[in-house]
Amino acid sequence: MDAKVSSRADCPDNILDQIKRLEELFTVETEQLKAITKHFVDELNQGLTVEGGDIPMVPTWCMGKPKGDETGTFLAIDMGGTNLRICEINLPEAAGAFEITQSKYRLPEELKSGEANELWDYVAHSIEKFVKQNHDIDELGQLPLGFTFSYPVSQESIDHGVLQRWTKGFNVKGVEGEDVVPQFEAALAKRKLPIKLTALVNDTTGTLIASAYTNPEVQIGCIFGTGCNAAYMDKCGNIPKIAHLNLDPEIPMAINCEWGAFDNQHKVLPRTSYDIIIDKASPRPGQQTFEKMVAGLYLGEIFRLTLVDLHEHPDCLMFKDQAITKLSQPYGLDASFLSKIEVDPFENLDETAELFHSTLDIKPSRHELELIRRLAELIGTRAARLTACGIAAICTKQNWTTAHVGADGSVFTHYPHFKARQAQALKEILDWPANQGKGAGDPIEVVAAEDGSGVGAALIAALTIKRVQDGNVAGIKNVDGVRAAAGIA
Ligand code: GLC
Repeated sequence: MDAKVSSRADCPDNILDQIKRLEELFTVETEQLKAITKHFVDELNQGLTVEGGDIPMVPTWCMGKPKGDETGTFLAIDMGGTNLRICEINLPEAAGAFEITQSKYRLPEELKSGEANELWDYVAHSIEKFVKQNHDIDELGQLPLGFTFSYPVSQESIDHGVLQRWTKGFNVKGVEGEDVVPQFEAALAKRKLPIKLTALVNDTTGTLIASAYTNPEVQIGCIFGTGCNAAYMDKCGNIPKIAHLNLDPEIPMAINCEWGAFDNQHKVLPRTSYDIIIDKASPRPGQQTFEKMVAGLYLGEIFRLTLVDLHEHPDCLMFKDQAITKLSQPYGLDASFLSKIEVDPFENLDETAELFHSTLDIKPSRHELELIRRLAELIGTRAARLTACGIAAICTKQNWTTAHVGADGSVFTHYPHFKARQAQALKEILDWPANQGKGAGDPIEVVAAEDGSGVGAALIAALTIKRVQDGNVAGIKNVDGVRAAAGIA
């Protein structure tokens, strides 16, 4: 499936040697995938124990899948890694149906490493603009809100959460170790917005629930985007760390794995020197080892560091006598740069040449272009194959031989061949027969998800309201607040 380097025969030895070296560095063979998956299962289990482990395995207090009879109007906001999205969602009577109005705002870069109050004020201001555009605020009663906050938070209830640590390059002061909900609500209160946070949701949990709403076979929700993570439905009885709460062991509970933290002890992942540099230079070294090898935020940087290394090699193996000023800019290339290289349809990699010229002021030779293309393929393939280990690990742990996985995120949606490479790796890990591993119809099939951070967050807010109505209030802190938001007496 991957394009082969077309002209190896006449490729100069040094470039050829480098391509070989990169292939060895970035290729993860079947046996390695299997060993990684085995260790992944152990870490998932460890995360559920009282002692815990590196993978947080957060019980989310989202207890059950939607039945299709959820109704009402909800606000949903999504503070992901890149954008702030605000939606109003109407769930009508018809099962599986929804209507959505939304606005998207680019999250200003400086907010990601600023002060907490600036971040929350920006979010509240954006919500205010959105609500005023769509409503007369004075006539609006309370609106329940599902807040998709996609970072590891410890949740003792569905409507609160303490940020364990920022991920995805965020470094906002004054939030880690704090409950994010009072901070957020204070910013809403300043603007007198008639909105009540009903559910604090991870994007993976939202994806799981939104996908299960339209496809009951979905057991796992995954995000392959700026960050990478998964959530799945377990039973309360399988979660030793909440055994003291004496919940009915058969009741389902969505677990936000936060699997980006897999192998923080560096036992099995085949890290390259480039992965190590990325980690050391990040705001949280030592954290999110797995995520830093597979997520969209990092793919361009892995690629860039590799090329800079080849340029700086004592024999200057790439871009000799050319200035690499632009290429030297940390995080100057994102995953879409690799996507463009991978889709270049021309044998002579004409589009890639043009891309390097226009973006980086570099004119690669024909053989350098071949290396560039191969490197993009290797980095994209490694990411897809490693993510398959996470999916296979959850399914193995749960003894699921068949399942649908609802997936979303920029890498899943836009990165060329990602799905096919992931399906192929699942086949290798799980020893499926030769005619499988193609995606559609596989025993474990990764399917495009419904809108998790919009519809998913609204559904989780609706499920929470339903639980309050039914008197099943385990893991809901502000029961009166939920009642008020939903207009329940
Ligand atoms: C990071 C976050 C996690 C989120 C994922 C995908 O891993 O820690 O909460 O689900 O990115 O956005």
